[in-house]
Amino acid sequence: MNKPIEPVVLAEARSHFPALERWTYMDVSARSVLSREVRAAMDAHLDDRMLNGATDKDQFFALVEGARGRFAQLIGADADEIAYTKNISDGLNMIATAIDWHRGDNVVLCPELEHPNNVYAWLNLQRYGVEVRMIPARGGHIPVDALVERMDARTRVATVATVSFAPGFRTDVDTLGKACRERDVLLLVDAAQSVGVLHTDVQASKIDALSVSTQKGLLALYGMGYLYCRRAWAERLHPAYLARFGVDLGDAHEASLGSYDFKLASGARRFDLGNYNFLATAAVDASMKQLLEWDTRRIEPYVRDLTHALARGFLELGLPVAGGEPGPHLTKIVTVGVMSADHYGAGDERYNRLYEHLVANRVKLSIRRGLLRFSLHVYNNMEDVERVLGLSREFLAKDGKR
Ligand SMILES: Cc1ncc(COP(=O)(O)O)c(C=O)c1O
Repeated sequence: MNKPIEPVVLAEARSHFPALERWTYMDVSARSVLSREVRAAMDAHLDDRMLNGATDKDQFFALVEGARGRFAQLIGADADEIAYTKNISDGLNMIATAIDWHRGDNVVLCPELEHPNNVYAWLNLQRYGVEVRMIPARGGHIPVDALVERMDARTRVATVATVSFAPGFRTDVDTLGKACRERDVLLLVDAAQSVGVLHTDVQASKIDALSVSTQKGLLALYGMGYLYCRRAWAERLHPAYLARFGVDLGDAHEASLGSYDFKLASGARRFDLGNYNFLATAAVDASMKQLLEWDTRRIEPYVRDLTHALARGFLELGLPVAGGEPGPHLTKIVTVGVMSADHYGAGDERYNRLYEHLVANRVKLSIRRGLLRFSLHVYNNMEDVERVLGLSREFLAKDGKR
C-alpha cells in the first residue's frame, strides 16, 4: 500500500541541493544537480585515494555491493539481478548482444520516440538477419497496442522508453509487460526518464530488463549506469563480453584465472566486466540513500502534482502544452511548443524567445525535438512552478506587443 504523502519530508529535500539557491532548476531530464551529501561522498573517496593510496580494495567491493543492493531495492529487484554499466546504451547493448538470435527473429519498437541509443543497438543486429519492426508513434505516445499487434512467434524483444525524453509522455509499460510475459518476449525498458522519480517495481510491471544511467533521476554522475535483468532471463543470456566479475570464481581471488571451463556468474552479475567506477559508485550510493529515504512512492505523486500544475498554468497562458490537459501521461516532464526534429531550437521563433527569457532569468531547461522541456524532481517546489509561470506571463505580455 502507498505510504501517505508527507510533503514536509520532501520539502526538506530541497535544502540538500545548493544549486537551487541560484537556479530554478527544471532540467533533470538532461542531468540532475548534485546534493551536498553526494559531493561529500566523492570527496571522501578521493581524499582516501589521495592520502592513503592503496586502501584495502575490499572496501571498494563492499561499496559496489552496497550500492548494487540499494539500486535493487529502489526498483524492487534482487541484488544478483543487477549489473554495473557505463551508461544506458551500454546496458541496452548488453541485452541486445546476449540473446541467441536466429535469422528472421524480430524486435519491436517505436523509433520516433526512442532515444537514438535505443535504436542503433537494434539496427546493428540487422547484419545477423534480425528484423527491426518499427511501429509509428501516435500523438506523441508509444502505442503499446500496436507494438503488441506486430508481435509474432519470431518476436524475441520489445523495447520502450518508460517515459520519452520528448514530448515526455509515460508509456503504458504494465500492459506491455503483461503481453510480453504471455508471449515469452523479453521486455527491455530504457528507464532514463523514470527511475529515481517515478516509483518503479520491475516485478509488478513485468519488466524483464531495465537500463538506466546515474546522472538524471538517480542524482549522481555521468559515466555510470545499472542494468537490471530478471534472473530467469539472465540465466538464458550469454554476454558478448566476458571478464572476471562476470565469471563465477567461487572463493578464488579476483585476479585468479579459475578454470578454463568457466561458469558464468549467476543472474545479471554475468554482465559485470572488470573494475568498477568506484567514484561514481560512491556518488550514486549516497544519492540512493537519500532517494530511498524520501521514497519514490512519495516522490512520484509529489512531482506529478507540480508537473500538472505547471502544465495547467501554461495552458491558462495559452501556451501549447504537448498532450494538452494533464493526465496520467504527464509525470515529471512538461513540453511546450511544436514538435520537430530540432534539438537546439524551437521551430517557432516565439518559443526560442521564451526560452531565452527564462534562461536570462536563471531558469534551467532544455529544448528537445523542438519543444521547450521542463523536467522536475523531488527538489522542485510550487514556488519554482509559480516563478516559471510568472516569467512566462511576463514574457507573453511583452512579446505580444512586438
Ligand atoms: C530516454 C533516454 N535514453 C538514453 C539516453 C542517453 O543514453 P546514454 O546513457 O547511453 O548516453 C537519454 C539521455 O541522455 C535518454 O533521455
